Amino acid sequence: MRIDTLITDARIASMVPGDTPYGVIEDGAIAISGNTISWVGERRDAPTAFENAHSLEGRWVTPALIDCHTHLVFAGDRSDEYERRLAGESYAEIAKSGGGIAKTVEATRQANSAQLAAAALRRLEALAEEGVGTVEIKSGYGLTIDSELTMLKAARGAGIASGMRVSPTLLAAHSIPREYQGRSGAYIDEVCIPLVRQAAQEGLADAVDAYCEGIAFSPEETRRLFIAAKAAGLPVKLHADQLSDTGGARLVAEFGGLSADHVEYTSEEGLQAMANAGTVAVILPGAFYSISETQKPPVARMRELGIPMAVSTDSNPGSSPMVSLLTAANMACTLFGFTVEEAVAGMTREAARALGLQDKLGTIETGKIADLAVWDIERPAELVQWIGRRPLHGRILEGEWV
Ligand code: NIG
Ligand code: FE
Repeated sequence: MRIDTLITDARIASMVPGDTPYGVIEDGAIAISGNTISWVGERRDAPTAFENAHSLEGRWVTPALIDCHTHLVFAGDRSDEYERRLAGESYAEIAKSGGGIAKTVEATRQANSAQLAAAALRRLEALAEEGVGTVEIKSGYGLTIDSELTMLKAARGAGIASGMRVSPTLLAAHSIPREYQGRSGAYIDEVCIPLVRQAAQEGLADAVDAYCEGIAFSPEETRRLFIAAKAAGLPVKLHADQLSDTGGARLVAEFGGLSADHVEYTSEEGLQAMANAGTVAVILPGAFYSISETQKPPVARMRELGIPMAVSTDSNPGSSPMVSLLTAANMACTLFGFTVEEAVAGMTREAARALGLQDKLGTIETGKIADLAVWDIERPAELVQWIGRRPLHGRILEGEWV
């Protein structure tokens, strides 16, 4: 195979599980052919025929980071809610009084696709400066057929404008819109399920998500939605057990779901189901921190059970107003007891798995897409130790420097 670029003089944290932490190759080389990694190994064994060579001058290289749970398409502002929480109201109380997600819905319904994409682009750029190459973006602030479709299109548009890979998720079942108050089942049947079918037919979403919680949808409603998603050929994931144990993790695992996200209140039974199904736990410390949650996700037990763990920003205007994946990784370690290696895997290999992209992304391995992040650091742990530092030297996406 013709090699377009041979990257040399690289300290590679391949994130391939094996004998060395981080899958490290100390004096490594990476061959790129088109958009694909065609060879990885020790520099002394590297192929000798290639078009261009590019020395990293001893810099570290990891897979480009992946933020696998965001709500970064939205309009409006929720800083008033922050002040209310500081004054003692809870996230759930604010939601019940018509604030929270409902407030963002009002603003988002007023915005057009171009406005939404422009606002999302700025947030994507902040993630890009930290080495992120792939971002999952959920709908869920439109809650009508048209405005949910507008959000999905805005997510794609922002992705194209940013040069990043965006994986859109349909989250119509995020909140019960005011016109369906008291009729959440009708909202599922009349809006969410038709949207699932349309999104699948038109290729507008890669997965279907829901918010299964006392202040949102019941397990029975979530199940109906998941049955429709499966029938339409779309994988499922779930905002599960964030504020209480609703059996959400067990439910999404039963459907072979990609991920159960938040999982602060997940029971032993839910964890067993996730382990059996290979469902990824997506840990969202920004939301835990921002809403002053005290129940931590059962990280030690998940580790014991071999549940894959990803870490993500949950970037959104209410419960997790953050555009820093490296800060989320730092929080996962300091607040929840992740090791640094787990945190880095959680932003790469396991985040790819949470998106069903583990065959294409998330490690530096032959055959994977050449999405890489190059860093000015001495050790991988520096990535996670610092807050607010951006040690990125540059990104290679689909084999090209950006
Ligand atoms: O992941 N929990 C529900 N959804 C978001 C919150 C969205 C919002 O508050 O606007 C979350 O935390
Ligand atoms: Fe979320």
